[in-house]
Amino acid sequence: MPSVSLARLRERLSALARFGALPGGGVTRMCWSPPHEEARAWLLGELKAAGLTTWVDPAGNVFGALGADRIGAAAPVVLTGSHIDTVPEGGILDGALGVMAGLECLHVIREAGGRVVRPVAVAAWSDEEGRYGSLFGSRAFCGRLDPAAIPTMAAVDGDRLVDAMGRAGFDAQRAPEAAAPRGSVAAYVELHIEQGPRLEEASIPIGVVEAIVGVRRARVVFHGQADHAGTTPMERRRDAFLAAADYALRARELVVSRGGARAVTNIGVVQVHPGASNIVPGRAELVHEMRDPDAAILERLARECDALAREVAAARGITVEVRPMSATTPAPCAPRVQETIEAVCASLGLASRRLYSAAGHDAQNLAGVTEAGMIFIPSRGGRSHRVDEMSDWDAIERGANVLLHTLLRLAA
Ligand code: GLV
Ligand code: MN
Ligand code: MN
Repeated sequence: MPSVSLARLRERLSALARFGALPGGGVTRMCWSPPHEEARAWLLGELKAAGLTTWVDPAGNVFGALGADRIGAAAPVVLTGSHIDTVPEGGILDGALGVMAGLECLHVIREAGGRVVRPVAVAAWSDEEGRYGSLFGSRAFCGRLDPAAIPTMAAVDGDRLVDAMGRAGFDAQRAPEAAAPRGSVAAYVELHIEQGPRLEEASIPIGVVEAIVGVRRARVVFHGQADHAGTTPMERRRDAFLAAADYALRARELVVSRGGARAVTNIGVVQVHPGASNIVPGRAELVHEMRDPDAAILERLARECDALAREVAAARGITVEVRPMSATTPAPCAPRVQETIEAVCASLGLASRRLYSAAGHDAQNLAGVTEAGMIFIPSRGGRSHRVDEMSDWDAIERGANVLLHTLLRLAA
C-alpha cells in the first residue's frame, strides 16, 4: 500500500514556514504580500521538482497536476488543495498542511508510476483568509466572483485588492476568468487541521467533515461627534466608541440567544477616530463577524444585528451605517466523499468521526461545483489562528495518508 513520506512533507512544511516567519514562531503571510509571493514562487519550484505540470490562473491560484495541463482541458480532474496565505500572526499549518500534503500525495502517485484513471491536481487557493475578499481564489475558480465588486474590494486598512494584486503582477479585473468550465472537476477533497478541540478531546485521529459554516462580515460605522475630552460636559457628548462598545456586548448576547446552537460571533477589528486620548471619539468602526451552519439563521441574525446597531446609535443620539463586507454560503459535504474517507480510514485501521467545520474553507465554494469533502486532523489544544498552532507529526502523517488513499479511490 503506498504511503506518504513524512520526512519530505515535514521538510516542505518547514521550508514554507520560513516565508513570513515571525521571530517568536508562527507566520504572517498575507495574500499578495512579498512573503506570500516569494512562497508562491517557491511552491511552483517544488511542484515542478516533483514532476508535476504547473500553472497559475488569473485569480492567482497555483496548480500542480498529473495527467492534465490545465483544468477543463481533458477529463475531469480529481482536485485537492488549500491555501498558503495566513492570518496576521498565524500558525504554520492552517492551509499549508493541505497544500503540502496534496503535493506529497501527487509526488507519491507520480513515483509509483502515475497510474490513475483520472487526472489529479493540487491547488493553492488565493486569499483564503480573506484579507481582501473571503475565499477569493476558490470563489473565482467556482464562478462566484462578481466582477462589479472587484474595484471595491479592500483590506481593513484600506489597501485595495486591485493595487495589492497589481503589486504582485496580477490584474484583479481578470480574476473571474479563472472560472473552471462546468463538469471539469470530478471531486474535491481537502486536508486541514481541525482548528478546534473536538478530535483531540475525543482521541479520534480523523474527522470527516459533514458541513462547513457560513460566515458573514459587516463593517459597522458609528458616527458621533468629536469634542474636547476635558471641556465637553459628559451629558453633551455623542461618543461613537461608547455606542460601538454597547453594540459589541449586545450583539454577542443577541447571536448567542437568537442563533442556532452552533452560532458564534466575533468583533476582531475596532478603529476609533481620530484616535487621541484628549478627543471624544467622533467615529468608531468595527468589523462584526458571525457564523452559523444554517444560511437562514445567519440571514436573520444579520437583520437583527442591523436593527440593534440602529437602536444603540439612536439611544446615544448618533447615527450608524452597516456595510455588508462578505457572506459565504454554508455548504454540506458530498456523501460520496465522506463515505470514501470513512472507507479509507477503516482500511488504514483509523477511527474517524463526522463533524461540522466551524471554520470557513475553500471546500465550501468547491461544493457548489463538484462533490467536495474535507479531512480533519486534531489540533494541539484546539489552538489555531495563533502562532503556536500545531498538530503532532504522526497526526499529520495519518491525515496525509488518508488524503492519499482518498485521492486514489476518487481517481480510480
Ligand atoms: C478561516 O480561516 C476562517 O476564518 O474560518
Ligand atoms: Mn485560517
Ligand atoms: Mn485554512
